[in-house]
Amino acid sequence: MDRKSSAMGAFALALVIILSACGISEAGEAPGQNSDGKMGMHDDSMNGNSESPQGGEMGMGGMGNQHMDHDDVAALDSSSGDNELNIPPVLKSDSTEETKYTVRAKMGETEIFDGTKTQTYGYNGDFLGPVLQFEKGETVTINLINELDVGTTFHWHGLKIPGEADGGPHNVIEPGEEDTIKFEVTQEAATLWFHPHPDGDTSEQVYKGLAGLIYIEDENIKELDLPDDYGKNDFPLIFQDRTFDEDKQLNYDAVMNEDGTVGDVSLINGTVNPKLTVGQEKVRLRLLNGSNARNYTFKMNTGDTFAQIATDGGLLNEPVEMEELTLTPSERAEIVIDFSKIDDERDVALVNDSDDILLPFEVTDEAAAEIDIPDKMNQFSVTEAEKDLPVTKEVELFGMMDMVTINGKKFDPERIDFTQERGVTEVWEIYNKPDMMGGMIHPFHIHGAQFKTLSRDGEAPPRNERGWKDTISVSPDETVRLAVQFNDKGVYMFHCHILEHEDNGMMGQIKVE
Ligand code: C2O
Ligand code: CU
Ligand code: CU
Repeated sequence: MDRKSSAMGAFALALVIILSACGISEAGEAPGQNSDGKMGMHDDSMNGNSESPQGGEMGMGGMGNQHMDHDDVAALDSSSGDNELNIPPVLKSDSTEETKYTVRAKMGETEIFDGTKTQTYGYNGDFLGPVLQFEKGETVTINLINELDVGTTFHWHGLKIPGEADGGPHNVIEPGEEDTIKFEVTQEAATLWFHPHPDGDTSEQVYKGLAGLIYIEDENIKELDLPDDYGKNDFPLIFQDRTFDEDKQLNYDAVMNEDGTVGDVSLINGTVNPKLTVGQEKVRLRLLNGSNARNYTFKMNTGDTFAQIATDGGLLNEPVEMEELTLTPSERAEIVIDFSKIDDERDVALVNDSDDILLPFEVTDEAAAEIDIPDKMNQFSVTEAEKDLPVTKEVELFGMMDMVTINGKKFDPERIDFTQERGVTEVWEIYNKPDMMGGMIHPFHIHGAQFKTLSRDGEAPPRNERGWKDTISVSPDETVRLAVQFNDKGVYMFHCHILEHEDNGMMGQIKVE
């Protein structure tokens, strides 16, 4: 697709946004209305806030309203609960002696809607991918096969892995070709994911279905009393929003938005109108925001709280009780919902901040053995020495549509933006510079590392961000400091994880030596 030709459209759109923003500037939601001011800021982005180009683009009359109404194109259709949620298969090792996987990117057909076949992409299947299980300390071999008719890469999001195996834009595998990577798993238990990363084509390939999960296990997590019966009380949930055309196809070129493609159809694990059947017990949900651009704020329709137990890269030290949780694209969180405590006379569902039903639960009478989530799960800490480190990398995120930049520049595969020594911690300061329309949240991601969030605008991060992260949401005018260390050598990407921003060049490269 020709991104340049849309530049004029982008300017026209910017004008619309300015005009809309002027009209409703006083109707915006008051910041910090939630108990947690930080979460309040995140909420604004999908609440039709005047500053959000996603909202602005829809030309909504009621953009300043706190809740989106049904005419709002950006709203998600509520799930009718007609279909039991698809649970991705767990990939079997090719060998009994060692962990050896074969991952094929392929084209497929999927009956997302009854009676119609949608053209999709998938890993080892027609749509999305299986779960790959790694164990800390082991060596993993993966054969990568590209059966698509376009070049692709296999990127391991959140994995500490040598640069040459990371699957960034330099590792393209042409159609019909294959490659093998081999690496040691050095990091703790976490839920990561994998997806393609070819320069300029990431958003389209993810949109069509290329995304899968990685579960890392370690000694610590095995000893903890957590729900871990896959598909029984431990479920992965990949949240994605899509637009289907009249023929129920994913016509990416027709719906592509330079500022992040959003859709009105909510898919979880590729299932439309999903429901999940659970027992009257504690259930662990591993949430991945796998959308191209939409931010999700999750809460229970009953007003009940849940416990967040993990961030992108590992367990929190202790469970954090949450009323709601926002994930920007590519962020993960693991939560535990106690269905034995929820009033079963009510229809129970996971909803978003506009109360659209994402996932209704069918709670059976089945009551399992009581699991006591431990209060001490991990030993994550930010040391005094790390707090005292000077800022040595500065990153300024700026722009919208196809005019997005990092430090004023667009991605150039030939240019190395930063260098860092392996094993040495440096403080990265990420600033989201507002534009004349205010700006938007950019989810900032670094490859090949898990980092610590030192501060948000000088304050300690909220309790549920005090754990390993690889993607951090940065609100307009916000400054976030990260302690970043790489394990391995190589060239790694850092970028905005709104996939169209990434494809539009909101990406840089760091060389780790
Ligand atoms: Cu999720 Cu550059 O990656
Ligand atoms: Cu990544
Ligand atoms: Cu962005």
